[in-house]
Amino acid sequence: MKALIANGHRVLHAVRDILARPDWRPALLMAASGCVGLLTAPVGRADPPPAFHQAPLSAASLENPFRGQWSAAQAGGRLYAAHCAACHGRSAAGTGNIPALAHARVQSVPDGEVFWFITRGSRSGAMPSWAALPEEQRWQLVTYLKTLVNAPILAPAPAAASMKPISAPPPPAPFTDFRFEVPGAVHKITAGDLPAPYATRSAGNAPAIVARPPDAWPKAPRGFKVQLYSDGLATPRVIHMAPNGDVFVAESDGGRIRAFRGLSADGKPERSEVFAGNLNKPYGIAFYPAGPDPKWLYVGDTDSVMRFAYRNGDLKASGAAEHIANLPHGSGHWTRDIVFSVDGNTLFVAVGSGSNIDDPDTTAAERYRADILAFDPDGSHMRVYASGIRNPSGLALDPRTGQLWCAVNERDGLGDNLVPDYITAVRADGFYGWPWWYMGPHQDPRHAGKHPELRQRVITPDVLLQPHSAPLQLAFYQGEQFPDEYHGDIFASAHGSWNKAVRTGYKIIRVPLHQTGRAGGEYEDFLTGFVLPNGQAWGRPVGVTTAPDGALLVTDDGSNSIWRISYVGK
Ligand code: HEC
Repeated sequence: MKALIANGHRVLHAVRDILARPDWRPALLMAASGCVGLLTAPVGRADPPPAFHQAPLSAASLENPFRGQWSAAQAGGRLYAAHCAACHGRSAAGTGNIPALAHARVQSVPDGEVFWFITRGSRSGAMPSWAALPEEQRWQLVTYLKTLVNAPILAPAPAAASMKPISAPPPPAPFTDFRFEVPGAVHKITAGDLPAPYATRSAGNAPAIVARPPDAWPKAPRGFKVQLYSDGLATPRVIHMAPNGDVFVAESDGGRIRAFRGLSADGKPERSEVFAGNLNKPYGIAFYPAGPDPKWLYVGDTDSVMRFAYRNGDLKASGAAEHIANLPHGSGHWTRDIVFSVDGNTLFVAVGSGSNIDDPDTTAAERYRADILAFDPDGSHMRVYASGIRNPSGLALDPRTGQLWCAVNERDGLGDNLVPDYITAVRADGFYGWPWWYMGPHQDPRHAGKHPELRQRVITPDVLLQPHSAPLQLAFYQGEQFPDEYHGDIFASAHGSWNKAVRTGYKIIRVPLHQTGRAGGEYEDFLTGFVLPNGQAWGRPVGVTTAPDGALLVTDDGSNSIWRISYVGK
């Protein structure tokens, strides 16, 4: 350890002192949780990602012995109050010229670089060196600092004995909640099942994520095995396999794309590298052109589409990001999924609404939002491909038909069992109702009387999901490993509800297409178990993709990990 730190004085990349760069600007970022953080990001997103305060390359690989440990974070909190709060502020929001540590750059750099900087202090001496504190205490401080954004280090799980199961009565069929969401359970909701608006009150039931209890593990159908593939990630979201079998993940809060390679005997990647950093809430990932030899990796940042030159085998971007197109952004839904049409001529970009239910007629900020936009691959010729889609947070092509599908978060505030979220094949120029209508000719009471001419145009989607379950990524199963009946089916995440009295979602579902390319409206729970009997949640599935060996990989931004589900037979 001492040698590593001494190494730091041989500054390897003098030009990387990011703070000396003139092109820094603050960017206001909004997390899905509604939590607002001030993060500094360079405009040019130059590559390679700059190290923290000229930290030597070796610093990033210093291992935090306490990562994710609640007790160490608490000890760090006490040390922080004693040594750091006077300058950085009690809530680490910064004071005067002294930088914030909560919701700040510290959150997106490796633990080792923060440790290195705390140990050494700044060159000017304005930030003192803390080398006199025992090494253990410096790591506790780092562990604490990392809790100050989106709570990646979690409150301890409740003890099994103290857990009181939820006692609410079951929801009226066909609606459901987590108590009845188990692998193999089949659900089907039709437009005829919908209750009237406000049949139940609008709940405020956002999850405070707890640490995974030792005996909790995701549950899959019989014959499937669930392994922990990776953990300690910074909000892992969309996941895709590159044509050569490497696995790429957007770590949205970390502002980076990570690449994994290989598979160890216990189901973990053999290599993990940051492909690119300094991105602005990256989410969508697409290799282009299609086929075995892509030239580019496109990324959907929250405010733009960027692309990196890519060649098979690259685990690190070989050059700077190229800006392709600006996207509408600001408040509200921040995820931007992207996918190319089969012919490669169109880049589809999903842009969710800025609000729950504001009227675009009178709210300028909703222009070109709640839409699936289309561009030429060079970012030119923006057009609206389909509209009235409140938050299309997942896009995918059926590889057999080339049909575009999307997963959509519908509106809140109308009660537990309204409005269904959905998965649907997207029709060109299709209008899906938001904000005036939903599920065909149902008018939103908050916009009563508006746009009667659109009533007949509103498309009822193919698969209605339990309202508020919050589907995110969807993927067509293309592996050979799962039994034949799964081939070509859709897997999708349900990130989980906040606007429902008893939680729903927090699972991976399967939408059977019965080898027809069409959905019949029903869907099946595939991976569950992220909610404890007392209603607290420890995990939230987001991304899903087929791995090279045909296993399914599922990202989880509750436990900040990735799960691997493989078929092992009876
Ligand atoms: C005397 C005031 C002072 C005290 C006490 C202090 N700091 Fe700092 N800290 C600073 C200043 C000033 C900077 C900015 C230095 C620079 O950028 O050159 C800074 C920067 C930092 C940074 C880098 C932030 C960034 O985004 O660049 C970290 C991390 C940090 N301090 C952690 C700590 C910790 C942990 C403690 C307590 C053990 C602590 N500081 C105590 C003044 C202080």
